[in-house]
Amino acid sequence: MKTYSIATIPGDGIGKEVVPAGQQVLEALAKTSSTFRFEFENFDWGGDYYRQHGVMMPADGLDAIRNKDAILFGSAGDPHIPDHITLWGLRLKICQGFDQYANVRPTRILSGIDAPLKRCKPEDLNWVIVRENSEGEYSGVGGRVHQGHPIEAATDVSMMTRAGVERIMRFAFKLAQSRPRKLLTVITKSNAQRHAMVMWDEIALQISKEFPDVTWDKELVDASTARMINKPQTLDTIVATNLHADILSDLAAALAGSLGIAPTGNIDPEHRYPSMFEPIHGSAFDIMGKGLANPVGTFWSVVMLLEHLGEFDAAKQVMSAIEQVTANPKLHTGDLGGKATTVQVTQAVCELLTAGAQRKAA
Ligand code: IPM
Ligand code: MG
Repeated sequence: MKTYSIATIPGDGIGKEVVPAGQQVLEALAKTSSTFRFEFENFDWGGDYYRQHGVMMPADGLDAIRNKDAILFGSAGDPHIPDHITLWGLRLKICQGFDQYANVRPTRILSGIDAPLKRCKPEDLNWVIVRENSEGEYSGVGGRVHQGHPIEAATDVSMMTRAGVERIMRFAFKLAQSRPRKLLTVITKSNAQRHAMVMWDEIALQISKEFPDVTWDKELVDASTARMINKPQTLDTIVATNLHADILSDLAAALAGSLGIAPTGNIDPEHRYPSMFEPIHGSAFDIMGKGLANPVGTFWSVVMLLEHLGEFDAAKQVMSAIEQVTANPKLHTGDLGGKATTVQVTQAVCELLTAGAQRKAA
C-alpha cells in the first residue's frame, strides 16, 4: 500500500471551506482503494497567521512541506492586508521556492453547466492553458524610488530568460502532443513588446522542431480574446506568459460557466519539489463562512493532483463523480444559479465515489 503525504494549506476566505472539502473527497477515494492511502498535514498559514506573527508563513515554512508528495492550496487574500503581501508572502513564495514553473489550467464546459456563449457547443470548448509561472511579468524585478515626490518612479520589469522560455515551451508542446488534437497556440505580443516577446516567438519556433507532429500557430494576446469567443473550437492547448495567461484563464473560466469550477496545478514537471493544486477562484470574502462556496474547483484540482501522482484511474473516478454532480441542477451552488451548499456538493461527490467502488466490487 502506497502512502501519499499531502500538505493542506487552506489560506484565507473560502479556502478554509473548500480545502477540507477536497480532503474529504480524497479520503472517500482512499477508502475505495487497496493500493494507496493519504496522510494529511494541515498548515494554518495566511492572513490570520500574519496578524499573529507578522508573516504569512514561517521563514522555514518551505522546509516543512518540501518532502510532501503534493500540496492542496485554498487561496491567499485578506481584506485587511495588502494583496501584494498576501500573494508574495505565501502563494508565490511556494511557487517560486519550489520552481513550479508550469501553471496548468484546463477548461471545459462540464455536463449540466449553462455556459454564457450561446453559439458554443460544449465540445467546442476544451482547452488547457499553460501559464509560465516563474518569471515574466511576475518575476518581482523592479523598484520604486522618490516615493511621494513629483519625481517618483516605479518599474515592474518583465524578465524572461532563455532557460525559462525553453522549458515552458517544451512543456506546452509535450502537453499538446499528448492530447488528441495535437494543437498548440502560442500567445504573444511581439508586435509591441519588441525584446522579450520576440525572443519568446523565436524560442517557440525552435522548440516546435522537436515536435513535428504538433500543429501550432501564433496569436496576439488581444486577438486571442476575440478568438476565444468567436472561434473557440480552433483552440486546444494554449501557452502564454504569466500575466497574459492570468487574464486569458479568467476569461476561459467565465466562458466555461463559472470561476467556481476552474482548477489549477502549479507544477514542477521534474518532480524535484512537491507541486501545488488549487482552485483559481480566490478567497471570495463576500460569501466566506456561509457554507456557500462551490467546491468543484477544488475537486477538479484534486483530479489534477491525482494525475500528477500517476493515479490516473482514481483521477478518472473523481472527474466522473464531479460531472455527475454538475449534471444535476439541484446540486448547483450559488455561482451557478443554484441553492446547494458546499457540504451537499461534497457529500454527493463522496457518495458517488463510494457507490462506484461498490458497483465495481459486486
Ligand atoms: C490567479 C490569481 C492570482 C494571480 C492572484 C490572486 C494574484 O489571479 O491565480 O490567476 O494573478 O496569479
Ligand atoms: Mg488570475
